Amino acid sequence: MQYVFKLSGESFGLAVAELRALFDIFNLKFKIIEHDKNIIKIKTNANKKIILKLCERSAFIKKTYLDGKIWAVSKGRFLEREPQKKPAFHPTTLKPKLARALVNLSRAKPKEILLDPFCGAGSVLIEAGILKIKTIGVDFDANMIAFSKNNLNFYKVKNYKLTNSDATQLEKTLKPNSISAIATDLPYGRSSRASLKNLAHLYEKFLISANNVLKKRKFAAIMYPHYINLPKLTNKKLWKTISKAELYVHGGLTRKIVVLRKI
Ligand SMILES: C[S@@+](CC[C@H](N)C(=O)[O-])C[C@H]1O[C@@H](n2cnc3c(N)ncnc32)[C@H](O)[C@@H]1O
Repeated sequence: MQYVFKLSGESFGLAVAELRALFDIFNLKFKIIEHDKNIIKIKTNANKKIILKLCERSAFIKKTYLDGKIWAVSKGRFLEREPQKKPAFHPTTLKPKLARALVNLSRAKPKEILLDPFCGAGSVLIEAGILKIKTIGVDFDANMIAFSKNNLNFYKVKNYKLTNSDATQLEKTLKPNSISAIATDLPYGRSSRASLKNLAHLYEKFLISANNVLKKRKFAAIMYPHYINLPKLTNKKLWKTISKAELYVHGGLTRKIVVLRKI
């Protein structure tokens, strides 16, 4: 069967990385036949019901065409979870679409445990919870843990655990090799030289701790700002890089998104 997907245009690299992750999650094979900006034509043996589920789970698939006609439209499903609609609003809160993309890139499946070690007000945990994935949120700011709790309860998400602790010492509260997926938006810090150095140090320590608690061959989807060189901080003996993408936000910020797999 051949399908044509119209992907939303913020970042084609990110949309295609998400598409690949979705086919992995559903254990499906596909081949790209044509790719022209945000229009992508694929061939797959998957049945229609599964493709429909995949479209519903996606953040970036806008429309799906079959035999030249619109077959499925995924529009407006994140509106009720936009940051301003959440009872506990914080300026760092991620848009639900991006949070969903991170969850998908982490390849987490229902009933598995996904960890967001910098959970803030909980957007990643909410998107995962809606997909029936169990979640653990960590944040060293007790106020943010309270924000997450408030927001998770508002969207009636169950099966979550929140811990007020440090993402560079995850082993203190989590068992080694116990987590099935990590999806997170790292702290952005301030732009002075000293704080950039501290931020790089924080990222480096987090990557080591995250590797300890993640199961072997599982994925971490990580978003971070362009002014930190995360690939340089990533130990190649611990992680294999699966995909890289970026998303322009404004003149002073481009977000980078990397997917790492524990070796
Ligand atoms: C970019 S925000 C995350 C926003 C979140 N994705 C959301 O949508 O609400 C980063 C979070 O990391 C937390 N944080 C910073 N350093 C930390 C550390 N060492 N351990 C745990 N949390 C930390 C901050 O308190 C902040 O809530």
